[in-house]
Amino acid sequence: MNKFFLDLGKQPLANNYSSSYKKNQIKYSLKLFFNTKNKMVSISKRIPSEKMFTNNYPYRSSMSKTMTNSFHKLSLEIKKRFKPKKILEIGSNDGALIKNFEKDKVIGVEPCNNLAQITSGKGYLTYNKYWNYNLAQKLKKKHGELDLIYSANTLTHISNLNDVFKSISYLLSTNGILIIEDPSLLECVKKVSYDQFYNEHIYLFSVISVTNFIKKFDLEIFDIKNLETHGGSIRYYIKSVKNKKVKVSNKVKNQFQKEKEFGLDKFNTYKKFAKKVKLSKKKLLNIFNKLKLKNKNVIGYGATAKAVTIINYCKIENDLIKNFVDTTPEKINQYMPGKNIKIIKYKKNSLDNVDYAFLGAWNFKKEIVSKEKKFLKKGGKFIIHVPFPKII
Ligand code: TMP
Repeated sequence: MNKFFLDLGKQPLANNYSSSYKKNQIKYSLKLFFNTKNKMVSISKRIPSEKMFTNNYPYRSSMSKTMTNSFHKLSLEIKKRFKPKKILEIGSNDGALIKNFEKDKVIGVEPCNNLAQITSGKGYLTYNKYWNYNLAQKLKKKHGELDLIYSANTLTHISNLNDVFKSISYLLSTNGILIIEDPSLLECVKKVSYDQFYNEHIYLFSVISVTNFIKKFDLEIFDIKNLETHGGSIRYYIKSVKNKKVKVSNKVKNQFQKEKEFGLDKFNTYKKFAKKVKLSKKKLLNIFNKLKLKNKNVIGYGATAKAVTIINYCKIENDLIKNFVDTTPEKINQYMPGKNIKIIKYKKNSLDNVDYAFLGAWNFKKEIVSKEKKFLKKGGKFIIHVPFPKII
Protein backbone atom coordinates (compact mmCIF):
# COMPACT_ATOMS: atom_id res chain seq x y z
CA MET A 1 0.00 0.00 0.00
CA ASN A 2 1.26 3.49 -0.90
CA LYS A 3 0.88 6.00 1.94
CA PHE A 4 1.12 9.75 1.35
CA PHE A 5 3.53 11.79 3.50
CA LEU A 6 4.52 15.07 1.81
CA ASP A 7 3.14 17.54 -0.74
CA LEU A 8 5.83 19.62 -2.46
CA GLY A 9 3.20 21.61 -4.34
CA LYS A 10 2.86 22.25 -8.05
CA GLN A 11 6.16 21.90 -9.86
CA PRO A 12 7.19 22.55 -13.47
CA LEU A 13 9.30 19.97 -15.30
CA ALA A 14 12.60 20.31 -13.47
CA ASN A 15 14.85 20.54 -16.54
CA ASN A 16 12.45 22.54 -18.67
CA TYR A 17 14.44 25.78 -18.92
CA SER A 18 13.04 28.32 -21.36
CA SER A 19 14.43 31.40 -23.10
CA SER A 20 11.69 33.62 -21.72
CA TYR A 21 9.68 33.51 -18.53
CA LYS A 22 6.49 31.54 -19.10
CA LYS A 23 3.94 32.53 -16.50
CA ASN A 24 1.55 29.78 -17.52
CA GLN A 25 4.13 26.98 -17.74
CA ILE A 26 2.45 23.63 -17.01
CA LYS A 27 2.99 22.45 -13.45
CA TYR A 28 2.40 19.03 -11.98
CA SER A 29 1.62 17.98 -8.46
CA LEU A 30 4.64 16.60 -6.57
CA LYS A 31 3.44 14.31 -3.79
CA LEU A 32 5.57 11.76 -1.98
CA PHE A 33 4.48 8.27 -0.97
CA PHE A 34 5.89 5.35 1.02
CA ASN A 35 5.15 1.79 -0.01
CA THR A 36 4.50 -0.16 3.20
CA LYS A 37 5.21 -3.49 1.47
CA ASN A 38 8.51 -3.05 -0.37
CA LYS A 39 9.53 0.16 1.52
CA MET A 40 10.03 2.11 -1.71
CA VAL A 41 9.63 5.89 -1.62
CA SER A 42 8.27 7.42 -4.81
CA ILE A 43 6.35 10.33 -6.27
CA SER A 44 2.78 9.79 -7.42
CA LYS A 45 2.48 11.83 -10.61
CA ARG A 46 4.32 10.11 -13.46
CA ILE A 47 5.18 12.29 -16.44
CA PRO A 48 5.82 10.43 -19.74
CA SER A 49 9.59 10.06 -20.35
CA GLU A 50 9.19 11.66 -23.78
CA LYS A 51 8.16 14.92 -22.12
CA MET A 52 11.13 15.01 -19.75
CA PHE A 53 14.01 13.47 -21.70
CA THR A 54 13.86 15.47 -24.85
CA ASN A 55 16.23 16.28 -27.69
CA ASN A 56 17.62 19.31 -25.92
CA TYR A 57 18.07 17.94 -22.43
CA PRO A 58 20.27 20.38 -20.49
CA TYR A 59 21.85 18.17 -17.81
CA ARG A 60 25.48 17.28 -18.59
CA SER A 61 27.39 14.82 -16.37
CA SER A 62 30.74 16.19 -17.51
CA MET A 63 30.08 19.69 -16.17
CA SER A 64 31.70 19.07 -12.80
CA LYS A 65 35.10 17.76 -11.81
CA THR A 66 33.48 15.87 -8.92
CA MET A 67 31.43 13.75 -11.33
CA THR A 68 34.14 13.21 -13.95
CA ASN A 69 36.61 12.18 -11.22
CA SER A 70 34.08 9.80 -9.72
CA PHE A 71 33.44 8.16 -13.12
CA HIS A 72 37.15 7.93 -13.86
CA LYS A 73 37.79 6.18 -10.54
CA LEU A 74 34.92 3.79 -11.19
CA SER A 75 36.21 2.93 -14.66
CA LEU A 76 39.55 1.90 -13.15
CA GLU A 77 37.74 -0.25 -10.59
CA ILE A 78 35.56 -1.90 -13.25
CA LYS A 79 38.59 -2.80 -15.39
CA LYS A 80 40.56 -4.19 -12.45
CA ARG A 81 37.83 -5.89 -10.43
CA PHE A 82 35.45 -7.27 -13.07
CA LYS A 83 37.48 -7.31 -16.31
CA PRO A 84 34.33 -7.18 -18.48
CA LYS A 85 34.44 -7.99 -22.18
CA LYS A 86 31.69 -5.49 -22.93
CA ILE A 87 30.01 -2.76 -20.90
CA LEU A 88 26.57 -1.33 -21.43
CA GLU A 89 25.70 2.01 -19.88
CA ILE A 90 22.03 2.87 -19.50
CA GLY A 91 21.75 6.67 -19.59
CA SER A 92 25.22 7.42 -20.96
CA ASN A 93 24.52 11.19 -20.99
CA ASP A 94 27.48 13.05 -22.56
CA GLY A 95 29.89 10.17 -22.07
CA ALA A 96 31.42 11.09 -18.70
CA LEU A 97 31.87 7.39 -17.91
CA ILE A 98 32.20 5.70 -21.28
CA LYS A 99 34.98 8.01 -22.45
CA ASN A 100 37.20 6.14 -19.98
CA PHE A 101 36.88 2.89 -21.98
CA GLU A 102 38.09 1.71 -25.34
CA LYS A 103 35.51 2.40 -28.04
CA ASP A 104 34.91 -1.26 -28.94
CA LYS A 105 34.27 -2.17 -25.28
CA VAL A 106 31.29 0.04 -24.48
CA ILE A 107 27.74 0.56 -25.66
CA GLY A 108 25.79 3.61 -24.60
CA VAL A 109 22.01 3.97 -24.35
CA GLU A 110 20.81 7.56 -24.19
CA PRO A 111 17.30 8.77 -25.03
CA CYS A 112 18.20 12.47 -25.35
CA ASN A 113 19.37 13.00 -28.91
CA ASN A 114 21.56 16.03 -28.15
CA LEU A 115 23.53 13.94 -25.64
CA ALA A 116 23.61 10.72 -27.70
CA GLN A 117 25.09 12.74 -30.55
CA ILE A 118 28.01 13.83 -28.38
CA THR A 119 29.12 10.24 -27.72
CA SER A 120 28.30 8.83 -31.15
CA GLY A 121 30.13 11.80 -32.67
CA LYS A 122 33.22 10.67 -30.79
CA GLY A 123 32.89 7.15 -32.17
CA TYR A 124 31.13 5.43 -29.26
CA LEU A 125 28.29 3.11 -30.25
CA THR A 126 25.25 4.85 -28.76
CA TYR A 127 21.63 3.78 -29.03
CA ASN A 128 19.48 6.91 -29.00
CA LYS A 129 16.64 5.05 -27.28
CA TYR A 130 14.68 4.77 -24.03
CA TRP A 131 15.63 1.79 -21.91
CA ASN A 132 13.00 -0.97 -22.15
CA TYR A 133 12.50 -4.65 -22.91
CA ASN A 134 12.24 -4.08 -26.66
CA LEU A 135 15.66 -2.50 -26.70
CA ALA A 136 17.09 -5.24 -24.48
CA GLN A 137 15.86 -7.83 -27.02
CA LYS A 138 17.45 -5.89 -29.87
CA LEU A 139 20.74 -5.59 -27.98
CA LYS A 140 20.82 -9.30 -27.10
CA LYS A 141 20.33 -10.25 -30.75
CA LYS A 142 23.16 -7.96 -31.82
CA HIS A 143 25.68 -8.28 -28.98
CA GLY A 144 24.66 -11.42 -27.07
CA GLU A 145 24.49 -11.48 -23.26
CA LEU A 146 26.52 -8.82 -21.50
CA ASP A 147 28.80 -9.23 -18.52
CA LEU A 148 28.58 -5.71 -17.13
CA ILE A 149 25.73 -3.23 -17.13
CA TYR A 150 26.11 0.15 -15.46
CA SER A 151 23.66 2.94 -14.80
CA ALA A 152 24.02 6.14 -12.78
CA ASN A 153 21.11 8.37 -11.85
CA THR A 154 18.90 6.87 -14.52
CA LEU A 155 16.90 3.84 -13.30
CA THR A 156 15.15 5.96 -10.63
CA HIS A 157 13.93 8.16 -13.51
CA ILE A 158 11.99 5.34 -15.19
CA SER A 159 8.44 4.76 -14.01
CA ASN A 160 8.12 1.09 -14.93
CA LEU A 161 10.77 -0.40 -12.63
CA ASN A 162 9.52 -3.93 -13.27
CA ASP A 163 10.32 -3.54 -16.95
CA VAL A 164 13.68 -1.98 -16.10
CA PHE A 165 14.91 -4.92 -14.04
CA LYS A 166 13.24 -7.53 -16.26
CA SER A 167 15.15 -6.11 -19.24
CA ILE A 168 18.43 -5.98 -17.34
CA SER A 169 18.22 -9.53 -16.03
CA TYR A 170 17.28 -10.72 -19.54
CA LEU A 171 20.40 -9.16 -21.03
CA LEU A 172 22.88 -9.92 -18.25
CA SER A 173 24.86 -13.17 -18.37
CA THR A 174 24.48 -15.53 -15.36
CA ASN A 175 27.78 -14.33 -13.94
CA GLY A 176 27.21 -10.77 -15.13
CA ILE A 177 27.37 -7.74 -12.88
CA LEU A 178 24.96 -4.85 -12.66
CA ILE A 179 26.22 -1.64 -11.05
CA ILE A 180 23.80 1.18 -10.35
CA GLU A 181 24.14 4.38 -8.39
CA ASP A 182 21.53 6.83 -7.28
CA PRO A 183 20.94 9.34 -4.47
CA SER A 184 20.59 7.63 -1.10
CA LEU A 185 17.24 7.85 0.65
CA LEU A 186 18.99 7.62 4.03
CA GLU A 187 21.16 10.66 3.24
CA CYS A 188 18.15 12.55 1.88
CA VAL A 189 16.08 11.96 5.01
CA LYS A 190 19.03 12.69 7.32
CA LYS A 191 19.92 15.91 5.49
CA VAL A 192 16.29 16.97 4.94
CA SER A 193 17.30 17.42 1.31
CA TYR A 194 13.76 17.29 -0.01
CA ASP A 195 15.10 18.82 -3.23
CA GLN A 196 16.17 15.30 -4.22
CA PHE A 197 12.53 14.99 -5.27
CA TYR A 198 11.43 16.38 -8.60
CA ASN A 199 9.32 14.97 -11.39
CA GLU A 200 12.29 13.13 -12.95
CA HIS A 201 13.22 11.45 -9.66
CA ILE A 202 10.37 9.00 -9.49
CA TYR A 203 12.03 6.79 -6.86
CA LEU A 204 14.60 7.35 -4.15
CA PHE A 205 16.39 4.07 -3.52
CA SER A 206 17.65 2.50 -0.30
CA VAL A 207 19.39 -0.83 0.24
CA ILE A 208 16.18 -2.05 1.90
CA SER A 209 13.88 -1.14 -1.01
CA VAL A 210 16.28 -2.27 -3.76
CA THR A 211 16.78 -5.62 -1.99
CA ASN A 212 13.02 -6.09 -1.79
CA PHE A 213 12.38 -5.00 -5.35
CA ILE A 214 14.99 -7.04 -7.23
CA LYS A 215 14.25 -10.34 -5.45
CA LYS A 216 11.59 -11.26 -8.00
CA PHE A 217 14.16 -11.02 -10.78
CA ASP A 218 16.52 -13.40 -8.94
CA LEU A 219 18.93 -10.53 -8.37
CA GLU A 220 20.71 -9.58 -5.15
CA ILE A 221 23.04 -6.82 -3.94
CA PHE A 222 26.50 -8.22 -3.18
CA ASP A 223 28.36 -5.01 -2.39
CA ILE A 224 27.69 -1.32 -1.87
CA LYS A 225 29.67 1.88 -1.69
CA ASN A 226 28.55 5.14 -0.11
CA LEU A 227 29.45 8.05 -2.39
CA GLU A 228 29.51 11.80 -1.85
CA THR A 229 28.11 12.54 -5.31
CA HIS A 230 24.68 14.17 -5.66
CA GLY A 231 24.60 14.95 -1.97
CA GLY A 232 25.10 11.33 -0.89
CA SER A 233 24.55 8.39 -3.19
CA ILE A 234 24.86 4.63 -2.96
CA ARG A 235 26.53 2.49 -5.58
CA TYR A 236 24.89 -0.96 -5.63
CA TYR A 237 26.76 -3.97 -7.03
CA ILE A 238 24.17 -6.53 -8.09
CA LYS A 239 24.37 -10.11 -9.36
CA SER A 240 22.14 -13.06 -10.09
CA VAL A 241 21.41 -15.25 -7.07
CA LYS A 242 22.54 -18.13 -9.32
CA ASN A 243 26.05 -16.71 -9.40
CA LYS A 244 27.58 -18.43 -6.39
CA LYS A 245 31.15 -17.41 -7.23
CA VAL A 246 30.75 -13.92 -5.83
CA LYS A 247 30.22 -13.59 -2.07
CA VAL A 248 27.88 -11.06 -0.50
CA SER A 249 29.88 -8.44 1.41
CA ASN A 250 29.10 -7.58 5.03
CA LYS A 251 28.80 -3.98 3.89
CA VAL A 252 25.37 -4.81 2.44
CA LYS A 253 24.09 -6.20 5.75
CA ASN A 254 25.58 -3.26 7.64
CA GLN A 255 23.94 -0.65 5.42
CA PHE A 256 20.62 -2.56 5.59
CA GLN A 257 20.89 -2.49 9.38
CA LYS A 258 21.84 1.19 9.44
CA GLU A 259 18.78 2.04 7.34
CA LYS A 260 16.57 -0.08 9.58
CA GLU A 261 17.91 1.54 12.73
CA PHE A 262 17.16 4.94 11.21
CA GLY A 263 13.61 3.75 10.48
CA LEU A 264 13.60 3.80 6.67
CA ASP A 265 11.20 0.84 6.82
CA LYS A 266 8.69 2.75 9.02
CA PHE A 267 6.05 5.21 7.82
CA ASN A 268 6.49 7.31 10.95
CA THR A 269 10.02 8.30 9.80
CA TYR A 270 8.55 9.95 6.71
CA LYS A 271 5.89 11.78 8.71
CA LYS A 272 8.71 13.26 10.83
CA PHE A 273 10.69 14.06 7.66
CA ALA A 274 7.66 15.94 6.25
CA LYS A 275 7.51 18.09 9.41
CA LYS A 276 11.20 18.91 9.10
CA VAL A 277 10.74 19.88 5.44
CA LYS A 278 7.99 22.35 6.34
CA LEU A 279 10.23 23.86 9.01
CA SER A 280 13.14 24.02 6.57
CA LYS A 281 10.99 26.04 4.15
CA LYS A 282 10.06 28.51 6.91
CA LYS A 283 13.67 28.98 7.99
CA LEU A 284 14.93 29.42 4.44
CA LEU A 285 12.30 32.06 3.66
CA ASN A 286 13.18 33.77 6.90
CA ILE A 287 16.81 34.10 5.79
CA PHE A 288 15.88 35.42 2.34
CA ASN A 289 13.35 37.90 3.70
CA LYS A 290 15.84 39.29 6.23
CA LEU A 291 18.44 39.77 3.48
CA LYS A 292 15.84 41.51 1.30
CA LEU A 293 15.08 43.96 4.09
CA LYS A 294 18.81 44.71 4.31
CA ASN A 295 18.93 45.26 0.53
CA LYS A 296 21.56 42.58 0.07
CA ASN A 297 22.51 41.36 -3.37
CA VAL A 298 21.50 37.67 -3.38
CA ILE A 299 21.97 35.27 -6.27
CA GLY A 300 21.68 31.51 -6.77
CA TYR A 301 24.81 29.44 -7.50
CA GLY A 302 24.12 26.37 -9.66
CA ALA A 303 20.78 26.30 -11.51
CA THR A 304 20.11 22.71 -10.53
CA ALA A 305 16.94 20.68 -10.87
CA LYS A 306 17.09 20.50 -7.07
CA ALA A 307 16.94 24.30 -6.87
CA VAL A 308 13.84 24.19 -9.07
CA THR A 309 12.07 22.11 -6.42
CA ILE A 310 13.11 24.58 -3.72
CA ILE A 311 12.17 27.82 -5.42
CA ASN A 312 8.81 26.44 -6.52
CA TYR A 313 7.98 24.78 -3.18
CA CYS A 314 9.12 27.82 -1.14
CA LYS A 315 7.62 30.25 -3.68
CA ILE A 316 10.88 32.16 -4.05
CA GLU A 317 10.68 34.95 -6.63
CA ASN A 318 13.27 37.31 -8.15
CA ASP A 319 12.89 39.77 -5.26
CA LEU A 320 14.65 37.17 -3.08
CA ILE A 321 17.06 35.62 -5.61
CA LYS A 322 17.96 38.04 -8.40
CA ASN A 323 19.37 35.45 -10.78
CA PHE A 324 21.29 32.19 -10.90
CA VAL A 325 24.79 31.64 -12.26
CA ASP A 326 25.69 28.35 -13.92
CA THR A 327 28.42 26.90 -16.13
CA THR A 328 26.23 24.65 -18.29
CA PRO A 329 25.93 26.15 -21.81
CA GLU A 330 22.40 24.72 -22.22
CA LYS A 331 21.15 26.62 -19.14
CA ILE A 332 22.70 30.02 -19.83
CA ASN A 333 20.29 32.89 -20.62
CA GLN A 334 17.37 30.60 -19.85
CA TYR A 335 14.84 31.02 -17.03
CA MET A 336 14.50 28.81 -13.98
CA PRO A 337 11.49 26.54 -14.61
CA GLY A 338 8.37 28.05 -13.08
CA LYS A 339 10.00 31.34 -12.07
CA ASN A 340 10.97 34.70 -13.52
CA ILE A 341 14.59 34.19 -12.48
CA LYS A 342 17.21 34.30 -15.22
CA ILE A 343 20.30 32.08 -15.40
CA ILE A 344 23.46 33.95 -16.26
CA LYS A 345 26.73 32.55 -17.55
CA TYR A 346 29.18 31.95 -14.72
CA LYS A 347 32.33 34.05 -15.08
CA LYS A 348 35.30 34.53 -12.79
CA ASN A 349 33.95 37.91 -11.73
CA SER A 350 30.30 36.78 -11.40
CA LEU A 351 30.38 37.12 -7.62
CA ASP A 352 32.20 40.47 -7.48
CA ASN A 353 29.15 42.48 -6.43
CA VAL A 354 27.31 39.65 -4.70
CA ASP A 355 26.71 39.58 -0.93
CA TYR A 356 25.08 36.14 -0.63
CA ALA A 357 24.95 33.14 -2.97
CA PHE A 358 22.35 30.44 -2.43
CA LEU A 359 23.98 27.09 -3.12
CA GLY A 360 21.58 25.50 -5.59
CA ALA A 361 24.41 23.03 -6.25
CA TRP A 362 25.00 22.34 -2.51
CA ASN A 363 26.11 18.84 -3.49
CA PHE A 364 29.26 20.48 -4.96
CA LYS A 365 29.87 22.59 -1.86
CA LYS A 366 33.50 21.48 -1.50
CA GLU A 367 34.33 22.15 -5.16
CA ILE A 368 32.54 25.52 -5.15
CA VAL A 369 33.91 26.76 -1.81
CA SER A 370 37.47 26.02 -2.92
CA LYS A 371 36.80 27.80 -6.24
CA GLU A 372 35.29 30.89 -4.59
CA LYS A 373 37.96 31.72 -2.00
CA LYS A 374 38.13 35.31 -3.26
CA PHE A 375 34.37 35.77 -2.72
CA LEU A 376 34.56 34.43 0.83
CA LYS A 377 37.65 36.47 1.61
CA LYS A 378 35.96 39.74 0.72
CA GLY A 379 33.07 38.86 3.05
CA GLY A 380 30.74 37.07 0.63
CA LYS A 381 28.62 34.30 2.15
CA PHE A 382 26.83 31.20 0.97
CA ILE A 383 23.32 30.20 1.95
CA ILE A 384 22.77 26.47 2.25
CA HIS A 385 19.58 24.66 3.23
CA VAL A 386 21.01 21.27 4.25
CA PRO A 387 20.78 19.84 6.84
CA PHE A 388 18.97 23.04 7.89
CA PRO A 389 18.92 26.53 6.32
CA LYS A 390 21.88 28.64 7.38
CA ILE A 391 24.48 31.13 6.21
CA ILE A 392 28.03 29.86 5.90
P1 TMP B 1 23.46 18.72 -10.39
O1 TMP B 1 23.48 19.09 -8.94
O2 TMP B 1 22.09 18.34 -10.87
O3 TMP B 1 24.53 17.76 -10.74
O4 TMP B 1 23.77 20.06 -11.23
C1 TMP B 1 24.87 20.85 -10.95
C2 TMP B 1 24.70 22.17 -11.67
O5 TMP B 1 25.56 23.14 -11.08
C3 TMP B 1 25.07 22.13 -13.15
O6 TMP B 1 24.13 22.90 -13.87
C4 TMP B 1 26.43 22.80 -13.22
C5 TMP B 1 26.37 23.76 -12.05
N1 TMP B 1 27.67 24.07 -11.47
C6 TMP B 1 28.18 25.35 -11.63
O7 TMP B 1 27.55 26.20 -12.25
N2 TMP B 1 29.39 25.64 -11.09
C7 TMP B 1 30.12 24.72 -10.41
O8 TMP B 1 31.23 25.05 -9.93
C8 TMP B 1 29.58 23.40 -10.22
C9 TMP B 1 30.34 22.37 -9.48
C10 TMP B 1 28.35 23.12 -10.78
